[in-house]
Amino acid sequence: MHAHAINAFLRRLPPWPVYILGVLAIAAKIWLAASGHMGPDPVRTLEQELGRLGLQELLAVMAITPLRRLSGISLLRFRRALALVAVFTIAAHLAVWLLLDVQGISAFWREIIKRPYITVGMAAFILMIPLAATSTNAAIRRMGARGWRRLHMLSYPVILLAGVHFIMLRKGWQAEPLFYMAAIMMLLALRLPWSVRPPLRPRRG
Ligand code: HEM
Repeated sequence: MHAHAINAFLRRLPPWPVYILGVLAIAAKIWLAASGHMGPDPVRTLEQELGRLGLQELLAVMAITPLRRLSGISLLRFRRALALVAVFTIAAHLAVWLLLDVQGISAFWREIIKRPYITVGMAAFILMIPLAATSTNAAIRRMGARGWRRLHMLSYPVILLAGVHFIMLRKGWQAEPLFYMAAIMMLLALRLPWSVRPPLRPRRG
């Protein structure tokens, strides 16, 4: 199918189901853990599952611009919803760790200082907050498109820190986090000014 036909189809879909699916995915994981379907250490498995899902959602968000540049297919109208779903998922990942794992504010600070992979994960989460907070149309208008775009360059350190967090928390150099890091580097490299960019097709409709 031609990119224009795909875009015409996508334009008919509203973005709100992305929020519903995102929240359902988090709820399903919590339900699986609570009902004894996540093995002998459900809190840890839930923590890991939410972390991985959040990272996959962040990757999907970062793939939207290169996909449009390279194929003409535009998922831009779903980007805000998907990005906010990623923030909810990471917030749930953090909440599980905070409420079920470390349990307590003094243990929270101790862990952040003691475990560098937690420090790095926390840095990624903190950098996501201004992005989520400026996601409304009113905030975008207030900041102006340039200011908003400049602030959203924070998404690059966010995803890099997330990839580093994953590599650090696994012992040794494991294939899975390195695979995610390779995908992150590729998505960032596609944004470099000298990377291949076919001219934008005129937008229709
Ligand atoms: C952008 C933010 C973050 C992303 C994308 C992310 C992603 C991940 C991923 C992919 C995993 C590994 C899953 C696996 O081993 O299968 C993980 C594990 C973990 N993350 Fe995060 N994370 C983020 C932020 C945080 C924050 C803020 C904290 C806590 C302050 C945190 C604490 C943990 C813990 C405790 C684990 C489990 C380690 C274990 O296996 O015992 N993460 N995270």
